Amino acid sequence: MLVSAKEMLIKAKEGHYAVGQFNINNLEWTKAILQTAQEMNSPVILGVSEGAGKYMCGFKTVADMVKAMIDELKITVPVALHLDHGTYEACYKCIDAGFSSIMFDGSHYPIEENVAKTTELVKVCAEKGMSLEAEVGSIGGEEDGVVGMGECADPNECKMIADLGVNMLAAGIGNIHGKYPANWPGLSFETLAAVSEKVGSMPLVLHGGTGIPADMIKKAISLGVSKINVNTECQLAFAAATREYVEAGKDLQGKGFDPRKLLAPGVEAIKATVKEKMELFGSVNKA
Ligand code: 13P
Repeated sequence: MLVSAKEMLIKAKEGHYAVGQFNINNLEWTKAILQTAQEMNSPVILGVSEGAGKYMCGFKTVADMVKAMIDELKITVPVALHLDHGTYEACYKCIDAGFSSIMFDGSHYPIEENVAKTTELVKVCAEKGMSLEAEVGSIGGEEDGVVGMGECADPNECKMIADLGVNMLAAGIGNIHGKYPANWPGLSFETLAAVSEKVGSMPLVLHGGTGIPADMIKKAISLGVSKINVNTECQLAFAAATREYVEAGKDLQGKGFDPRKLLAPGVEAIKATVKEKMELFGSVNKA
């Protein structure tokens, strides 16, 4: 069932668990995540970055594929289709394409412009029954080989953006997209606690879910995180399983070159990763 992320995240915040956002890259990824969510009886959010949207032939192709798959696979758990780190322009493209949720990443705009654009999108999303995520502070990550640590969000700025009526808020708390460097100091729970206190019942989003130790994930959930984004970890699991298959020479045996066989171990690895995360996040049987 394609729904906005609004209700599932309110429920998660109240129930002290988190819903996973798993980014999709192609048909196999999407099918693996949907089937696992159904099997686990868990709500799920499919994340689509602008790059992945372009790769999959545009947001309309993605939305139509996801809707058809939900129908054909008889997926009854709540599924949100969410634009990840959207520009202002991409937000409108996804609204038109039939997404049920968007993230407007206005963190690089001056705060006044971030506020103006977010206010406008709050109104449009409410009219369409869609959910909206905003970001305050920056999420670190690798750019040109340099890993940025990100900057921690200002709790007052978080309160200001939350009060505009968004449905979920991503606050930078020292989290990073991709693999964490060896010298990563860990999540700033001090920042998270301060943000949480300011924004009250607003569900908070933790980006960069790959490689965050389980105890930190649990603590983040206890401090108000209700949505956790995971992307790189599924990619690493898929690549490792595919490498193992090829290195074992299985693509050279019989019809092992058939993409339905060649990609199967990678798909199973994505499923195992998603299952493990759903168990850790506590969303199993919360559909
Ligand atoms: P990772 O790739 O580090 O898991 O981050 C995913 C993410 O935050 C997508 O917005």
